[in-house]
Amino acid sequence: MSDLVRNFIGGKWVEAYSGETFNSINPATEELVAAIARSGTEDVAAAVEAAKRAYESWRLTPAPRRGEILYRVGQLLIERKEALAELLVQEMGKVIAEARGDIQEAIDMAFFMGGEGRRLLGYTAPVEMPNKFGMALRDSVGVVALITPWNFPIAIPSWKSLPALIAGNCVIFKPASDTPKLGAEFVRVFADAGIPEGVINVIVGPGSVVGNAIADHPDIKVISFTGSTEVGYEMYARAAKQGKKVSLELGGKNAILVMDDANLDLAVEAILFSAFGTTGQRCTATSRLIVEKGIKPRLVEALLARTQALRLGYGIDPKVDVGPLINERARETVHEYVEIGKKEGARLLCGGEIAGKGANGENGGKGFFYKPTLFDNVTPNMRIAQEEIFGPVLSIIEVGSLEEAVKVNNSVKYGLSSSIFTENVNAVFRAIRDLTTGMVYVNHGTTGAEIQFPFGGTRGTGNGMREAGQTALDTFTEWKSVYVDYSGRLQRAQIDTETILGKLDE
Ligand code: UN1
Repeated sequence: MSDLVRNFIGGKWVEAYSGETFNSINPATEELVAAIARSGTEDVAAAVEAAKRAYESWRLTPAPRRGEILYRVGQLLIERKEALAELLVQEMGKVIAEARGDIQEAIDMAFFMGGEGRRLLGYTAPVEMPNKFGMALRDSVGVVALITPWNFPIAIPSWKSLPALIAGNCVIFKPASDTPKLGAEFVRVFADAGIPEGVINVIVGPGSVVGNAIADHPDIKVISFTGSTEVGYEMYARAAKQGKKVSLELGGKNAILVMDDANLDLAVEAILFSAFGTTGQRCTATSRLIVEKGIKPRLVEALLARTQALRLGYGIDPKVDVGPLINERARETVHEYVEIGKKEGARLLCGGEIAGKGANGENGGKGFFYKPTLFDNVTPNMRIAQEEIFGPVLSIIEVGSLEEAVKVNNSVKYGLSSSIFTENVNAVFRAIRDLTTGMVYVNHGTTGAEIQFPFGGTRGTGNGMREAGQTALDTFTEWKSVYVDYSGRLQRAQIDTETILGKLDE
């Protein structure tokens, strides 16, 4: 199963300049998935040179032709969906059904952005002078860098690479060091789809060294980063020294609001999926349940029973509900938060411990498993109600009204996703108006965004940029305003306004 994952630079798979490697580990079995080239500054520099060379012709390739390559990428992803999903379970740990969803998201994005090849819409508007024409065009930027996390190792790279490429840019892609093989296999799809050499390059390696090299390289114009708030802000500050455009997708502390009149069974299903799907390791995961007093006892009872029945294990088995955490460090962090929650006075209803013997005692005690955890009696200011834990931990907060629920929802430093369960149409529209997150769901959990709409959040979740949808193009294009004066004389905008009318019939 194990092999060496290399960099892809200028259309060739090459070892890192350092000659060194590190390991990618299966988080469910702790087996080696692959050895990975340990890249550094020199590798980034080589990739940028290849990308700059390729840019000269890629930017001039008609966008519909670029789109045809993306359609082939979509088609190849369909053909490789099952194999990639299995690799995704091995290298990242999510369960097979969710792994297939991860690949599907990239397929959807490939066809959506392939279609942009025949749009990339700009606009024209009337101009102030006669015999003059004005238009605004989206222009490519040059070489762009994508830094992606391990939790959606195919979907998130697709959100960034496909809009970047359709717009005519060349790409340096740095996958997370926990899922580099998936990053390389994703790029192999582009290579096999016939993308010209140097248009997309992958550099695998440790985040800090490669990330800093990307932030510092003067010929990388745009950086699109998804990951932790801490690393994202560092990257932002570093890249700002050269005035680079940086798109950030960072943490979340997302909540589901359940009102007294909610459909209880539906709410329980949605909470389970959004809180414990991907083992809680989504930026969109539900980590707070804000529940109205009246429904709370019944809701908590049903949720507790279902949470305790969740089956942990190696996600390749379709009967498994919850996979492992990504690595030992992540598991330690989750456990530290559980200890903090207990000290803060929250009541542990279930979980709160390492599934020490592996998945229900399976896998020979291997794997970074953690029991799905429910905390009751959580108050909005507790750290477990404020900070992103990125694991299977749900904090239950009781409220007395919709107004209070909305206030609690909005009083965290993140603003990615929120959701409300109610059958009351007035409450729905109030919530849509007043919830201050980038995404709002009604009678649906906080996860499951579709690629044709903007994805992203307010406050500490980002810096105002959005991924997916046509808004993704804003990250990877510059606007160019064009004025064509065909009057044959000097017409001064804003100045010659008085004389214009008289000159119309000359
Ligand atoms: C993430 O949580 O990092 O909306 C991405 C969702 C998925 C993507 C999540 N489509 O949950």
